[in-house]
Amino acid sequence: MTGVLRPGHVQIRVFDLEESARFYRDVMGLVETGRDDQGRVYFKCWDERDHNSYIIRQAEEAGIDFFGFKVLNVATLDKLEADLNEYGIETTRMPAGEMLETGERVRFTLPTGHLMELYAEKSAVGNGLSSANPGPWNKASEHGIAPVRLDHMLLYGPNVAANKKIFEDVLGFFLVERVLAEDGEFEAALWLSCSHKVHDIAFVEHPEPGKLHHCSFLMESWEKVLRAGDIMSMNEVSVDIGPTRHGITRGCTIYAWDPSGNRFETFMGGYQPYPDYETITWDWDHFPQGLDYPQRKLHESFLTIVT
Ligand SMILES: [Fe+2]
Repeated sequence: MTGVLRPGHVQIRVFDLEESARFYRDVMGLVETGRDDQGRVYFKCWDERDHNSYIIRQAEEAGIDFFGFKVLNVATLDKLEADLNEYGIETTRMPAGEMLETGERVRFTLPTGHLMELYAEKSAVGNGLSSANPGPWNKASEHGIAPVRLDHMLLYGPNVAANKKIFEDVLGFFLVERVLAEDGEFEAALWLSCSHKVHDIAFVEHPEPGKLHHCSFLMESWEKVLRAGDIMSMNEVSVDIGPTRHGITRGCTIYAWDPSGNRFETFMGGYQPYPDYETITWDWDHFPQGLDYPQRKLHESFLTIVT
């Protein structure tokens, strides 16, 4: 991996900052790493090494402000910005320090209406384990749901075909799986990877721009996904679907909502694709299996509720 590395941060809007901070700290089990003078609260998952990955901001409306992918280094950032500009996409630079412990960010708007960023620098604060002879886990890994990392986002918006071209032709992603609409041709949903992960980002065609379906957090095992479900129930968290397994990506999952109605996922599994793999296609008739393999069901809330 030499270009775009991974989803590095996402900023989410919440109604009540302190209630949400408590939720993400004590129920989700993220590590609070800072607050800035704009009133934003910064979190990371316990096993992530960079200063922050999940940021919340108080607002009247829930949803996603922007998301950022980390790239290998500053030279890669400059190159990708030039490539985006050459492709016809306007970019702006967010100054270093505008987000805590984060370098300059190259920001642009996707055809689906989402604000995306690329950045090369974020302070490494470590995962609480030594880099010499580390233990396999620490206390933070046992507090709340405690996912190991922010894994991917699923976003809803119009014109996902144009997003696909940017991710494939400019940013170096490859298409892992897709769902075709009833006509057997139109790509209604796409799962894209820039790594060895089954997806780093996914898009679903939807008339309203800039919508969030979910941010996903990786658990280490199916047992830990089930334990996440226990913690959701103990804390009366609203659950959408699961525990179950998707046919699409083979991910084993639970989806639930934060106190502001932003959906999140706790998941594990999937497989490790390579860029030379043939894209897997789900036709409309098999989409219920793609969504929920054991139950073969199109859950209406899952398909229609976004923030
Ligand atoms: Fe997901």
